[in-house]
Amino acid sequence: MDFYHIQSYSEYKEAYKASVKTPETFWESIAEENFSWKKKWNEILSWDFTKAEIRWFDGAKLNITENCIDRHLDTRGEKTALLFEPNSPSEAAQHISYNQLYEKVCRFANVLKQKGIEKGDRVCIYLPMIPELAVSVLACARIGAVHSVVFAGFSAQALSQRILDCDCKMVITSDGAFRGNKTIPLKNIVDNALEDCPDVTSVLVVRRTGEHIKMKEGRDEWLLPLLDSASISCIPEVMDAEDPLFILYTSGSTGKPKGMVHTTAGYMVYSAYTFKNVFQYQEEDIYWCTADIGWITGHSYIVYGPLANGATTVMFEGVPSYPDYGRFWEIVAKHKVTQFYTAPTAIRALAKEPLEFVKKHDLTSLKILGTVGEPINEEAWHWYNNNIGDGLCPIVDTWWQTETGGILISALPKITPAILPTFATLPLPGIQPVLVDDSSKEIKGNPAHGKLCIKFPWPGMARTIWGDHKRYKETYFSAYQNKYFTGDGALRNDDGYYRITGRVDDVIIVSGHNLGTAPIEDVINTHEAVAESAIVGFPHDVKGNALYGFVTLKHPEFSSEKISEEINQLISTSIGPIAKLDKIQFTEGLPKTRSGKIMRRILRKIASGETESLGDISTLLNPEVVQEIIQQRK
Ligand code: PRX
Repeated sequence: MDFYHIQSYSEYKEAYKASVKTPETFWESIAEENFSWKKKWNEILSWDFTKAEIRWFDGAKLNITENCIDRHLDTRGEKTALLFEPNSPSEAAQHISYNQLYEKVCRFANVLKQKGIEKGDRVCIYLPMIPELAVSVLACARIGAVHSVVFAGFSAQALSQRILDCDCKMVITSDGAFRGNKTIPLKNIVDNALEDCPDVTSVLVVRRTGEHIKMKEGRDEWLLPLLDSASISCIPEVMDAEDPLFILYTSGSTGKPKGMVHTTAGYMVYSAYTFKNVFQYQEEDIYWCTADIGWITGHSYIVYGPLANGATTVMFEGVPSYPDYGRFWEIVAKHKVTQFYTAPTAIRALAKEPLEFVKKHDLTSLKILGTVGEPINEEAWHWYNNNIGDGLCPIVDTWWQTETGGILISALPKITPAILPTFATLPLPGIQPVLVDDSSKEIKGNPAHGKLCIKFPWPGMARTIWGDHKRYKETYFSAYQNKYFTGDGALRNDDGYYRITGRVDDVIIVSGHNLGTAPIEDVINTHEAVAESAIVGFPHDVKGNALYGFVTLKHPEFSSEKISEEINQLISTSIGPIAKLDKIQFTEGLPKTRSGKIMRRILRKIASGETESLGDISTLLNPEVVQEIIQQRK
């Protein structure tokens, strides 16, 4: 039996049971019945978590763009695939049909080929949320090139680091980006980044803002004339199931960003399957996910998952606050959006504004609301439920990660009974979560609280870190034997519902973005006046968490506002403005264990103002510094 579209709670339970009892049969029938293959697999699954080796649908041959575009042309050729809403409401929206998308992707794919891009080559995409971003992603997939999309808010240094790490030959960018009432000079940023990347031989530039930019002879070309002269058909490259589809970087708790590698068949099946069920997509629906394609949410739930289901997916270029705080709701009303998927940080920011911004728009088209990226607090949940959903739209709180490729834990709307605020609820079929305690033992029974692991592979999981399989194995499969470790803590209530309680490692989620503490500290420590530093998160009513930096200077007497500003400037240049510190406190020293490890637990409490519950600090190497830090707390 094929469980592709679950429509009742009993079906969910049946599907879940089957997916645990015979996972191979479960996924085989889903793959077989709902996708188009050039050749079927020899083996559905082979895996060994001790070596971090996972293969799905091995031996199968396919092209994901045939599944996302070509196979819809007969029945949905004129249906809108991409609905583009520009930054400015005075610019017209674009409805790009499946037929048009096919043509655009083929032309773009032919341009890539003409520029010498071949199967397996890496292409960096650094674009704003304009149709060319989705089209270029699909064009890469059409010819088997591996796309590496870098969020266009990252700095030149962060961009060049990512280009170098996976050795991209080409960068696709635009002259600039519109963001609210600002324009961002993307091409300049690329020019700066490429000073360190001699192997990039080709830069394709989309014209968007129209401002003057420099074009480097022999390297840079405007995209439009190339597209115009390219052929409108492009035979899709035949890919192996386990050929890489894309690389997407995510922060780690240490060192450089991790280039998570997702492969073709498993990712396709999983992103499509979860999209269909979590959003209960129906043929006439207009689905909108507000994420940027620079993040995994955009990959799986703006591009691949929706298109594989023949959906209409909205792409929004702008920001929720421009021209006013009603922009999201205006778009929902204008396009009669049925599913709306956003981040808690956006909800919290909009909830602070007068309700007038919501009330003047007709939101009755909405059926299902979703959240992703961080835990949602009850207050934000109720605001969303009451004011946006009018108490009628189930909210799916979807828990997942860049590494997981798709949603792992989520309610199914109108199917999962009693959706509780702040609970992601139940695992999707195929997902076997477990909670483990500090001694690595699985905690059975309910209620329970522990570290969240997954004990069986699912098709959408990342296969490796680009160029560093050892790091992949150590990060995800070494903490607990035979389990994938998520880095999150969770509790499970009496009904088996999961509530994610947050990161248990040195990753901090700020406005839904993963930030590793170590890479930020590394940047701070490059400031010539700095001796050492430690970053912790503290609660923030819009961002969820904000960053608090404790910085020790080589000459503490020279601490100044100027150094604080320079530190934030350095962070902004090296990583991007999203990693800037909200508070910087200069300290005489940092609390350390006798083995010299910084006691972040204590700093975290101080930053959050919980100074009464510091616990025993007498075993520290330097307990005296704690009082001093508390007194000078910002
Ligand atoms: O801590 C969890 C949090 O975001 C982390 C993954 O971040 P990233 O790889 O950037 O992917 C974000 C989009 C999928 C997780 O380890 N997180 C994500 N969704 C939720 C969440 N925390 C609580 N509830 C969620 N729904």
